[in-house]
Amino acid sequence: MTQKYYIETYGCQMNVYDSELVASLLKQSGFVETGQIHEADAIFLNTCSIREKAEETVHNRLSNFQHLKRKNPGLIIGVLGCMAQHLKDNLLESKPYVDVILGPDSYRKLPEFIRNRNTGLDHLADTRLSKFEVYEDMFPTRNQGINAWISIMRGCDKFCTFCIVPFTRGRERSRTIESIVSETRQAVDEGFLEITLLGQNVNSFRDPGGSDFPDLLEAVASVPGVRRIRYTSPHPCDIGDKLLKVMQNHENICNHIHLPLQAGSDRILKRMNRTYTQYEFLDLVSKIRVYLPDCSLTTDIIVGFPGETEDEFLETLKVVRAVRFNSAFMFKYSPRPGTKAVEFSDQVPEVVKQGRLEQLIRLQKSMTLLANQKQVGKTLKVIVEKESKKSPDQWSGRTDGNTWVIFNKSGENIRDMIDVKITDARGISLFGVSLLTEVTA
Ligand code: 5AD
Ligand code: SF4
Repeated sequence: MTQKYYIETYGCQMNVYDSELVASLLKQSGFVETGQIHEADAIFLNTCSIREKAEETVHNRLSNFQHLKRKNPGLIIGVLGCMAQHLKDNLLESKPYVDVILGPDSYRKLPEFIRNRNTGLDHLADTRLSKFEVYEDMFPTRNQGINAWISIMRGCDKFCTFCIVPFTRGRERSRTIESIVSETRQAVDEGFLEITLLGQNVNSFRDPGGSDFPDLLEAVASVPGVRRIRYTSPHPCDIGDKLLKVMQNHENICNHIHLPLQAGSDRILKRMNRTYTQYEFLDLVSKIRVYLPDCSLTTDIIVGFPGETEDEFLETLKVVRAVRFNSAFMFKYSPRPGTKAVEFSDQVPEVVKQGRLEQLIRLQKSMTLLANQKQVGKTLKVIVEKESKKSPDQWSGRTDGNTWVIFNKSGENIRDMIDVKITDARGISLFGVSLLTEVTA
């Protein structure tokens, strides 16, 4: 009987991509996917270590699997990704029913483990990080949809002092432009309309031949049939004129940059090792808006980094007000063992972090609304993605700036790129009227 696998993915988009790579490896090993955990012969959790809460969620989930294993001792339970890398010894000790522990550079080991399982090899733990592994020759198995994620580089050499990524994902390394372009072509042939280029630091991309990220973006934008291109995430220090010119010159590169701010105070930015000041960040935002006047800007912000005073937190709010980000991911600082920032003695109390987070979220909500209200009256291109959760008579789709728009159905189909006249902005969404003229790329 055909063996079935079930996979759950936590954390960032890179994990979504990696789960698709693992799906390809499992299919090559004769497995088929199931969405029903109870009928699976192998269960994998692709995990995240970025904040403590992410790790707790996976620990709890794994504890639930113990009884499944008791019922079916042949069941394979695997932990993949950053937690496997970060907590290998802890998992081996506290969760002995876990059979497979593979870090982000070790997925190729999986088919061999499955082949040998009946001949005695019943555990596999490999968390060696590689200077070279980019899974260049492997294409992911994607579920049908609008957007295809394509990994262009792996790892991070920036060592922000709060961040575990350089330890769980290792050193920066890039794929070749040729293989990324050919994966893009394949995704277009499979019917994907949107490509999102992924990396921990996309603009550290260096093709072995010497080309840089703007060159890559240009090459992907030139692949026939690519309607939209996004990328995430760049480091603010590496956004230059060349990149902005490429974005300006290509219709199909979305007018959207995810620009992680992290904090507004110069002293905190320095302690975070972010390598820019508030002034430099704001200057970059002005420059982006000269090249791309309607560019949507989104960000990541951490509150309560060790030593952050009330005044320093207010600097963050000041930048949020000055930039008017379209949206933001906002987090309380979470101490990550092994990083530099856990060693700082002036950790901020939980209640203070919580209060700052709530204050920031309130401000950002009003900024999102202001940014969205500016769109009212405009006609925007929207890709129809799914039926709206609010009503079966309405569609939801995203603008080029990555904002959701809800509008009444009037003969459109999912995947159409149409003009929508924006009539209202509420909450975090836009509302509009479809003009039903299919726009060709
Ligand atoms: N605590 C809170 N947030 C963090 N991030 C990274 N590390 C931490 C941490 N220790 C956030 C950053 C990053 C995003 C992906 O996660 O804002 O940009
Ligand atoms: Fe983490 Fe900083 Fe690297 Fe981003 S740039 S992955 S925040 S160390």
